[in-house]
Amino acid sequence: MKSKSKRKILGVVGSPRKKGNTHILVSRIIDGAKDKGATTEILFLGDLSIRECDGCHVCWKGKQCSKKDDMNKIYPKIMKSDVIVLGTPVYWYGPTALMKCFIDRFVYFNCPENRAKIRGKLAAVAVPFEEENPKTADLLIKFFEKSLQYLEMKLIGKILVPGVSRRGDILKKADLLEKAYKLGKRLAKDKTGI
Ligand SMILES: Cc1cc2nc3c(=O)[nH]c(=O)nc-3n(C[C@H](O)[C@H](O)[C@H](O)COP(=O)(O)O)c2cc1C
Repeated sequence: MKSKSKRKILGVVGSPRKKGNTHILVSRIIDGAKDKGATTEILFLGDLSIRECDGCHVCWKGKQCSKKDDMNKIYPKIMKSDVIVLGTPVYWYGPTALMKCFIDRFVYFNCPENRAKIRGKLAAVAVPFEEENPKTADLLIKFFEKSLQYLEMKLIGKILVPGVSRRGDILKKADLLEKAYKLGKRLAKDKTGI
């Protein structure tokens, strides 16, 4: 009998648009992981209140973040997960403000006391955008690569979907949605080095 995945996978939708291209893309990755038996959850950042980090660093002194917002209930979900799927459309060649605020709050993990809570976790990124040129996402991908590397996380999958503008356009990209589904299955595998 095949053993089921024990991985916990957290999908993060950084577009403010519900049922938009990012939401559909992240959901397809999560479907693949779920079908392999992983435990999954999707966070819709637009439903949450997550403020910017102002660098007060009380979180480095063992205290709760001074911003009394939803991020304080998201930290435990991040810590319990094995894999985080970060989805954002390209907004002005970078991430959405929602995704940027979310990643800014990873400052919490940037002290010796908290680093072990994020070190070694796997990540994948999912990025739709309007322009046809894949280079449109270069700066955004670099932002994720550098930030995740700094946090000692492992970026093991990327899906870029160019040429999608209106809500649901991505449904016409069957090949890339299939790639997303397969990525989800891969993320659910219990061996690292995938
Ligand atoms: C504020 C804003 C900025 C955008 N900037 C870019 C951009 O620089 N390059 C691009 O190709 N698409 C850009 N887009 C288009 C989105 O990336 C595209 O519509 C994407 O499919 C939206 O995904 P969603 O449905 O998940 O919101 C922008 C859209 C908005 C609303």
